[in-house]
Amino acid sequence: MSARIIDGKALAAGIREDVAQRAKALRAQGITAGLAVVLVGDDPASHVYVRNKAQACEKAGLYSREIRLAADTPQATLLDVIEGLNADPAIHGILVQLPLPAPLDANQVIAAIAADKDVDGFHISNVGLLMTGQPRFIPCTPYGVMKMLESEKVVLRGAEAVVVGASNIVGKPMAMLLLAQGATVTLCNSKTRDLAAQTRRADVLVVATGRPNMIRSDMIKPGAIVIDVGINRLPDGRLTGDVAFDESCAVAGAITPVPGGVGPMTIAMLLVNTIEAAERSLS
Ligand code: GUN
Repeated sequence: MSARIIDGKALAAGIREDVAQRAKALRAQGITAGLAVVLVGDDPASHVYVRNKAQACEKAGLYSREIRLAADTPQATLLDVIEGLNADPAIHGILVQLPLPAPLDANQVIAAIAADKDVDGFHISNVGLLMTGQPRFIPCTPYGVMKMLESEKVVLRGAEAVVVGASNIVGKPMAMLLLAQGATVTLCNSKTRDLAAQTRRADVLVVATGRPNMIRSDMIKPGAIVIDVGINRLPDGRLTGDVAFDESCAVAGAITPVPGGVGPMTIAMLLVNTIEAAERSLS
C-alpha cells in the first residue's frame, strides 16, 4: 500500500484565494483587514514563521504590521504594546509569537489581548468557547488539520482519533475539535505508557510532539490517516516531521508531508481568522 499524500500547500492556496476575495469585498466597504504580529527576541525559527505570516497577509490583500521587540523587553512594555494594538482600529487580529523568552509570562500576555482580536484563539475566553462548542476563534494549526480531514472526506463520527502531544497550541484544541465531530479521542502526552499501543488503535493519528521521527511505521494502523504537525530542523538543515515519513507511507492510508503539509495550512487559517475578525468589526 502507498499512502495518499495530503497536499497542504495546494489546499492552503485555495483557502488563501478565498480570503483574498473576502479582503477585496471588505476593502470595497472601506475596511482593510489588519494583522499585528509581535515577535520578542531573536529565535531564528520564529523569525521565519513571522516573515511567512506577514508575506501571506500581504499577498491576500491584508495589512500586516510586524512589531519586533528585544529579548530583554520588560513584561510591562510588552503589555503596553498589546494595549495599543487592542485600541488600534487598523488592527483586527493580534498574534504574539510563542514561545516568549524567559522570564516573560505568556499567560499574562495572552490574557491582555482583546478576545475579539485573538486570532490565535489562545485567550481563555476563546478556549472556553471552543470547549463548550461555541467557537469564536479556532487555533490555527488544529483548524488547518480539520480542514485537511474535511478535504479528505474523513468520517470522524465514531472514529478512533489519537492525538500525540497535549500542548495548549495544538494538542488540546485538536482533541476538542475531533471530539466535537464525534470521534473517540485519546490525548497522549510525554508520560503515556506504551505509546505504540495507543497510536496503533488510531483511525486518525495527529502527531505534535516536536520530536523528529518519533512515530515509526510499526506504530501506525494500516490505512490510518496520519497528520504530522511537527516541523523539526535536522543538523544538516533539512526539515522533517514527527513521523518517519518514507516508511510510514507504506502503512498509512493518507499522510501529510513535512514541509508542505500542516505548515501552510496554519498560515492560511490565520488569514481566515483575521478576515473573520475584520468582517465582525462591521457588525
Ligand atoms: N508558535 C508556534 N505555533 C504558534 C502559533 O500558532 N501561534 C503563535 N502565536 N505562536 C506559535
